[in-house]
Amino acid sequence: MAIISDNDKSFKTFEGRNPNIKSESIEYDKIFESSIRPKDFENYIGQSELKETLKITLEAARLRERPLDHMLFYGPPGLGKTTIAGVIASQMGVDIKITSAPALERPRDIIGILMSLKGGEILFIDEIHRLNKVAEEILYPAMEDFILDMTTGKSQTAKTLRVPIPKFTLIGATTKAGDLSSPLRDRFGMIHRLEFYSIEELAQVVKRTAKIIDIKITEEGAIAIAKRSRGTPRIANRLVKRVSDFALVKYNGLINDIVANESLDILKIDAFGLDTTDRALLNLIVEKYDGGPVGVETIAAALSEDVRTIEEVSEPYLLQAGLLQRTPRGRKVSPEGYRHLGIKLASEQKTLFD
Ligand code: ADE
Repeated sequence: MAIISDNDKSFKTFEGRNPNIKSESIEYDKIFESSIRPKDFENYIGQSELKETLKITLEAARLRERPLDHMLFYGPPGLGKTTIAGVIASQMGVDIKITSAPALERPRDIIGILMSLKGGEILFIDEIHRLNKVAEEILYPAMEDFILDMTTGKSQTAKTLRVPIPKFTLIGATTKAGDLSSPLRDRFGMIHRLEFYSIEELAQVVKRTAKIIDIKITEEGAIAIAKRSRGTPRIANRLVKRVSDFALVKYNGLINDIVANESLDILKIDAFGLDTTDRALLNLIVEKYDGGPVGVETIAAALSEDVRTIEEVSEPYLLQAGLLQRTPRGRKVSPEGYRHLGIKLASEQKTLFD
């Protein structure tokens, strides 16, 4: 199976956000990530419901000798959407072409990639909610009837050419399924949400990666890293790598819980896995807005982050961990969030009259 990555320009700004990792190392990070990606279901940890459904879907497509239905995977970044697409391609024995919606700006970008596909191949479009209208309209007949509608000539002399293309499978990935237009959403035969990983699953990811990069790790060490990985295997993998540097240089190359916790403290990843941006977000709401509610635009401006990064990267885990709440009037820090920051709620603070 060949993996052809069409254009990575959009990955750099958005997917690359990561605690303590500067932008210049993002390219290297992506290479590391793809080098440890599992290629089969046995090595793909977690998302068990999805795996079971996929095994059946793949087997049925093989028996019928038909291409797979188009699939949409959604959920927070780093949960393995690209990875599962790679597993599907390798299990079907077909190539996968990987691109992202912001790289498909001009009609010729999407037409070019559709025309380059061979029968049965998989086209993976990341951040598919960001496709523009023109690209979407080119995709509809391509997805439905494997036809490219192309216009030649101008205004009165314009002609529409209907060019057949080989049957392919589109796998779309998005962090914001709600932003997909309904005609596009309706053209996917399978829509699946990827879930955050449990500590046990993340510990398995950590041990697998440690083995691949040839570093010794104890069960307790793996769990310590898992606990601070925000439910996200991509973060777990990055942390294994950072902790393994500490282990190699300072601790004879073994990661145990003491080494893991000490290194992660130095990297300013706290016991919940929150990084400096997450804590700054919670602190801002508590200190400047009395715990909230406050609008996401205000939060983003105050933190000099863009709204998308706040909504799609920072918030999902804070919400799921119960540290933050979303209300119609904006975001609020929960009592659990106050406790995590070590700040007492107004109702818990003693007054002069107590
Ligand atoms: N790396 C990233 N996601 C993974 C997963 N689900 N299983 C194993 N390794 C991974």
